[in-house]
Amino acid sequence: MQSLGVYLITLLVSLLLFGLPLFYSLKPLYEETWPEEAMAGKKIWQEKGCIECHTLLGNGGYSGGDLTFVTATKTKEELLAFLTSPPVLPPAKQLRHIALDPEQAKSVISFLEKVSEIDTHGWPPKPVRNSSAQK
Ligand code: HEC
Repeated sequence: MQSLGVYLITLLVSLLLFGLPLFYSLKPLYEETWPEEAMAGKKIWQEKGCIECHTLLGNGGYSGGDLTFVTATKTKEELLAFLTSPPVLPPAKQLRHIALDPEQAKSVISFLEKVSEIDTHGWPPKPVRNSSAQK
């Protein structure tokens, strides 16, 4: 009877010793939520169909290039300026890029910032840029 007690205590202690660190190391994976602004940006990204011309994580359209890490190469101000008063697009320069109002643009930038934090292990291998569209 006494050995059963020792057994149970050993079992409980081992469960705690292994279970607690495991629990606390996995917890952030499930708890971390994206800021509301970034989620609003994701919605705008979907509604406006940005994916038709841009890739994220290598998926999407290729004419506008990959935007997974655009926030690392462009400042917030540059992106805001681009999105709120966009230029006409190459190569024909007849179509103006979709314009967003400042609120929408800020949300989309916040979304793109969160996307850029995803550890992609080097994917996509290099910025995907227009290669098929320009042929
Ligand atoms: C009709 C195709 C098309 C759609 C739809 C489109 N884009 Fe673009 N976008 C482009 C092209 C082409 C460029 C490249 C312009 C250039 O390099 O001069 C570009 C450039 C950009 C840039 C600047 C990238 C850089 O490296 O400077 C950002 C940011 C951007 N787009 C965001 C968006 C967002 C956000 C949306 C959705 C609201 C969107 N685009 C929808 C075609 C598109």
